[in-house]
Amino acid sequence: MTTAPGLFVARCLVRVAVWILVAGAVAGPAALVRPAASAAPGAESPLYGTELPADGYVSSTSCAAAACHGRGHAGGMRSEYLAWSPDLRPGKPNDPHARAYQVLFNSVSKRIASLMELPKPAHETSLCLKCHAVEAVQPAEALSEGVGCCGCHGPAKKWLTVHYQPAWKALSHREKWEQYGFLPVQNLTTRAVNCAGCHVGDATREVNHELIAAGHPRLTFEFAGLHVTPGYRKHWEEPLAPAEFESRAWVIGQATSLRNATKLLGERAKRAESDSEADWPEFAGYSCVSCHRAIRKDTPRPVPRAQQTRGKSGWEMLSVAAVDVAAEFTPRVFVGAAVPRLVALGELREVMAKGSPNLQLVRQKSAAAVAELDDWLTALQAAEDRPRAHALAPEVSQQLLNALAASALTPDRGALRDHDPDFLAAHAAGCRAVLRGSPDVRLSGHMRELVEVLPVPHTPNGRLTDWGSGLTNARMLRVRDQFRDIFDRTRPGGKR
Ligand code: HEC
Ligand code: HEC
Ligand code: HEC
Ligand code: HEC
Repeated sequence: MTTAPGLFVARCLVRVAVWILVAGAVAGPAALVRPAASAAPGAESPLYGTELPADGYVSSTSCAAAACHGRGHAGGMRSEYLAWSPDLRPGKPNDPHARAYQVLFNSVSKRIASLMELPKPAHETSLCLKCHAVEAVQPAEALSEGVGCCGCHGPAKKWLTVHYQPAWKALSHREKWEQYGFLPVQNLTTRAVNCAGCHVGDATREVNHELIAAGHPRLTFEFAGLHVTPGYRKHWEEPLAPAEFESRAWVIGQATSLRNATKLLGERAKRAESDSEADWPEFAGYSCVSCHRAIRKDTPRPVPRAQQTRGKSGWEMLSVAAVDVAAEFTPRVFVGAAVPRLVALGELREVMAKGSPNLQLVRQKSAAAVAELDDWLTALQAAEDRPRAHALAPEVSQQLLNALAASALTPDRGALRDHDPDFLAAHAAGCRAVLRGSPDVRLSGHMRELVEVLPVPHTPNGRLTDWGSGLTNARMLRVRDQFRDIFDRTRPGGKR
C-alpha cells in the first residue's frame, strides 16, 4: 500500500490512539450470542452455490432474444433483459448492475485509481472488475455489460439450451446447481450469499479502508432492504407474502452478511500473517465513528461519556449487532430449523474487541465461526428448498419487532444499549424490514424518525460516514424514545 508520508504518520498515530480507545471502551463486550439450546449441524446436506464456477459465462445479449428474455416493455412477461438494461430517461428507475462497468470510467473511479496508484485504469483492474462486471465473461468485450445475467444466475454455457425444456422444471434447485452451475436464486439463502459476495465482499473481493479513503462508498448491506433500494428496478416479483418474505430475508441477511464478513476477516488475518506490510487490523471492519469522531475536532461526541453504555467501537457492528435476535427467531420464521449454535462467533467477537487482535487467534476463531455460520445457512437454505408447509404465524412479526427494540435498549429500557450508529442502524433496519412486511400505522412515525436520524442501509442516509454532527445528545434521546415506544406497543397487552 502506498500512502503519502504525512498521512502514514497520521495513520499510525491515530491507529495507536484508536486501539487505546477501542480497548478501553469495549472492556465489557456487548452481549455474546447465547449458546444454542439444540444444535442443527450435520442433519442437512451441505451448503451449495457459495462459490461460482471459474468459466462458462456468456454475454447478456445471449439472453436478449424476444422469444427469451428480451420482450416488449419492462415489467411485462419475459422482459428481464429490458428491465436490466439502462433506462436513460432522467429520473427513471434502473438496474445499477447494467452500468456497474461504466462507473469505472467516472471521476470517482479515476480518483480512486490515482490515489491508490493502480498500475492500470480502474476498468482494466481486476480488483474493480471482480465486483463491477462478470470478469470471466466471453467474449471479453461483454465486460462492458457490467454485472450481467450470469453474475447472478450463474455461468449459462451449460444450461443455456436446456433451461426452458420441460425436463428442467423437474430438477431440484440443488441438481440445477450441481449439474449445470445454475444458481437457484429463488432460494433466498442462495440469493443472499451471491449478492453479499459483491455487497459485503468475501475471501476474494473486498472494499477495504484504502478504497474507501480514496473515495469508494462504504459497503453496507441489509439483504431485505437491498431489494427496495430507491431507484432499483427489479425484474421479478417475489412469490412470498410480504410478511413472510421480509422476515425470511431479514434473518437470512443477518446470517449471510456476518458469514461473508467473517470469511473476509479470516482472509485478512491470513494475509497479514504472511505479509507484514498488509493492513492489520483492517479499519473497514470497525465502526467508522470510532475513529472519525476522534480525529475531527469539530464534531461533538454524540453523548457525554458518563451517559454512554459499554460496548462501542465493535467489529462489524452492522452485521453483528442484531444477530442474536435473528438466531433466536430462526425456528419461528423457518419452521423445522433450530436455533443456530454460535459459540465460536462469540469467542471471535471477544478477540476482536481487544486492541490489536492476535492474528493467529483471529484466523483460527474466524474459521470456526465461518463453519458455524455455514451450518446456520445450510439449515436456512434447506428450509428454503422445502415446500412451505406452514405460513408465518401472524404474531411473529410483532414479536420480532419487540425483540429488536428490546435488543437496542438496556434491560431496564432506560437507555440505548450502545450508542454506535451502526449498532442502532442494524436494529432500525430490522424493524424497517418487518414493518414493510406487516405495516403498522402506529409505528410508521417512529420508523420515519429512525430512518431520518440513523445511517440505515439502503436509505438516503445509509452511506453516511460522518454522523458526528447529526448524532447530538438530544437526537440520541429521541432514538431511545422511538425504540422504547416500539417496544411498548408491540408487547402483549402493551400500550396501544
Ligand atoms: C467487493 C466488491 C467491490 C469492489 C472490489 C469494488 N467495488 Fe465499487 N462498488 C461496489 C458496490 C456494491 C457499489 C455500490 C455501493 C452503494 O451504492 O452503496 C460500488 C460503488 C462504486 C462506485 C459508486 C458508483 C455510483 O453509482 O455512485 C464507484 C465509483 C466504484 N464503486 C468504483 C470502484 C473502483 C474504481 C473499484 C476498484 C478500485 C471498485 N469500485 C471496487 C462493489 C465493489
Ligand atoms: C443482481 C442480480 C441479477 C442480475 C444481474 C440478473 N438477475 Fe435475473 N433475477 C435475479 C433474482 C434475485 C431473481 C428472483 C429469483 C428468481 O425468480 O429466480 C431473478 C429472476 C429472474 C427471472 C425470473 C423472473 C420471474 O418473474 O420469476 C428471469 C427470467 C431472469 N431473472 C432473467 C435475467 C436476465 C435475462 C438477466 C440479464 C439481462 C438477469 N436476470 C440479470 C437476480 C439477477
Ligand atoms: C458481481 C457483483 C454483484 C452482485 C452479485 C450483485 N451486485 Fe448489486 N451492485 C454491484 C455493483 C458493482 C453496484 C454498483 C453499481 C453502480 O453504482 O453503478 C451494485 C449496486 C446495487 C444496488 C444499488 C445500490 C445503491 O445503494 O445504490 C442494488 C439495490 C443492488 N446492487 C442490489 C443487488 C441484489 C439484490 C443482488 C443479489 C440479487 C446484487 N445486487 C448482486 C455488484 C453486484
Ligand atoms: C481505526 C481507525 C479508523 C477506522 C475504524 C476508520 N477510519 Fe477512516 N481514516 C482513518 C485514518 C487514520 C485516516 C487518514 C489516513 C488514511 O487515509 O488511511 C482515514 C481516512 C478516511 C477517509 C479519507 C478522508 C479524507 O479526508 O480524505 C475516509 C473517507 C474514511 N477514512 C472513511 C472511513 C469509513 C467509511 C470508515 C468505516 C467503514 C472508516 N473510515 C473507519 C482511520 C479510521
